Amino acid sequence: MCGIVGYIGYRDAYPILIKGLQRLEYRGYDSAGVALFDGTNINLAKTKGKVEDLNKKAETDISLKGTLGIGHTRWATHGVPNDINSHPHYSNSGNLVIIHNGIIENYESIKKELLKRGYTFHSETDTEVLVNLIEEVQKTEDVKLGKAVQIALNQVVGAYAIAVFDLKKPDEIVVAKLGSPLAIGVGDKEFFIASDASPFIEFTNNAVYLEDEEMAIVRLGKEIKLRKIKDDAIAYPNILELQLNLEEIEKGGYEHFMLKEIYEQPRAILDTYRGRLLADQGLIRMAGIDQNLEKFLNANRIIIVACGTSWHAGLVAEYIFEDLARIPVEVEYASEFRYRNPVITDKDVLIAISQSGETADTLAAIKLAKEKGAFVFGVCNVVGSSIARETDAGAYTHAGPEIGVASTKAFTTQITVLTLIALKLAKEKGEFSSSKFHEFLTELETIPAKVEKALESNTLIEIIADVYKDSENCLYLGRGYNFPVALEGALKLKEISYIHAEGYPAAEMKHGPIALIDEQMPVIVIATKKGHYEKVVSNIQEIKSRKGKIIAVVTEGDKQVRSLADHVVEVPETLESLTPLLTTIPLQLLSYHIAVMRGCNVDQPRNLAKSVTVE
Ligand code: F6R
Repeated sequence: MCGIVGYIGYRDAYPILIKGLQRLEYRGYDSAGVALFDGTNINLAKTKGKVEDLNKKAETDISLKGTLGIGHTRWATHGVPNDINSHPHYSNSGNLVIIHNGIIENYESIKKELLKRGYTFHSETDTEVLVNLIEEVQKTEDVKLGKAVQIALNQVVGAYAIAVFDLKKPDEIVVAKLGSPLAIGVGDKEFFIASDASPFIEFTNNAVYLEDEEMAIVRLGKEIKLRKIKDDAIAYPNILELQLNLEEIEKGGYEHFMLKEIYEQPRAILDTYRGRLLADQGLIRMAGIDQNLEKFLNANRIIIVACGTSWHAGLVAEYIFEDLARIPVEVEYASEFRYRNPVITDKDVLIAISQSGETADTLAAIKLAKEKGAFVFGVCNVVGSSIARETDAGAYTHAGPEIGVASTKAFTTQITVLTLIALKLAKEKGEFSSSKFHEFLTELETIPAKVEKALESNTLIEIIADVYKDSENCLYLGRGYNFPVALEGALKLKEISYIHAEGYPAAEMKHGPIALIDEQMPVIVIATKKGHYEKVVSNIQEIKSRKGKIIAVVTEGDKQVRSLADHVVEVPETLESLTPLLTTIPLQLLSYHIAVMRGCNVDQPRNLAKSVTVE
């Protein structure tokens, strides 16, 4: 949600800002803008729409000169998406210019105060209030920009990642963070600022990630100065060497990031268990679990919190943990958990799942559980993200950057990590014999090749997509381990193709959704051999007798469902608890192709943001 970029150094800032904003497009946005200092003036261009619209506007409207600048993609919160509400925003004097990611919750009371003091406002945004508050502090306290930002931020309530510079002191950019991510790329005599490292990775792989309530002054030719916003204490920059490379954040010949990421799953799953799953030694090694084994083994229960696709991975994990490790599990939407006064004790283990590691509701759920004494474990993809830092221990998924807004490889790698944890706990608890454990480990090792095989159905799925691309509704059914997969399939379809879709446990169909079935209704049924197969076959028969169209995902070689369904997509056979890793693949491809055929923006679906940093 919202992306920020900034540059100060010796290169032309504009191309770095525009390219950087393009790299951040995946975060979701509805308008964009840049401000550049050309040596004398600030030149600002902003517009509703895409970064390419901004580029066209900037090229005709402003001078693109300058080695200092900031840029922004805005996902509207306060004020509709339009040119005026877009960032950057000037202060009233025109000297300060700011970009902001987050929400200033008490902006109305600050605005009232500033109005009394003669300030005027052009936009409806909380950000314009903030930049004028900084200006007011600068004037009344007679302090430099850095100090003014600090004093102002101590008066605001909310979340922010900001970058601001002053026309009168154009050798520095002041940045600050609370609740929204902010990275500083440290080059040789130059600095980059961004919501994540993707805008600057081709220039430097040295980066400092600001902690919450930290601010920094990046000044030309100087070291970065970090300080705590609350008490002015000096903080020391921890410069990390990033492993990210440019290839990982480019499309690599695929038409969309989503398709690339679907095809990356064999590699991503392998990377997730590489070094952790040691089948030949009969071992699973995971530092975060090994060091906290007693906490898991003595837990009364595991609570899983997450949102969206990550919540679906949590549901799969519930089946795995209870089935294999016999540990009670509750799975909660983070947004509900945080506000419902849940009963949590120090005997609970909370697992927070998040691709981005920045989801505001999941972060808040973690903080609540920690306050109540629970041990909190994170499953994140983005290294160094807020959730990864906030949790007591954790395991990264190692999926690599996921740029398509619709989660694909994040889902399967989250399931892989959670399966490893469940298997390890099952073994430690004595729920598994050595041979059963070994059977699981060796089967898990075959999954990347089996996902590869599942991907071979792509052409067939494209043909099926063509038949159903104009549907208005779709039903997804699965049972047991594949019920969460049905939910995930439905979510994928609705978010990128805007077709209404529902996921249901197959047996629940007759308690309501069966009323929807007629010859117009495509029903996607996951009917793999293991796990309630005969029951699902009966459900298929019920759909067929009401003339619903059946697209079945079946185990290789299946004959019974093939004789009933309109279309059949095969996946290789595996253990029941590992089937979600395979059955998900055709559902991802189906929604992808339908969305492409409907002309939708697959990688940046309307209204959606990749990391949801506001509640
Ligand atoms: C769906 C999707 C979202 C995210 C959700 C949580 O494809 O991407 O539903 O899964 O916003 O995000 P993370 O996992 O980053 O916490």
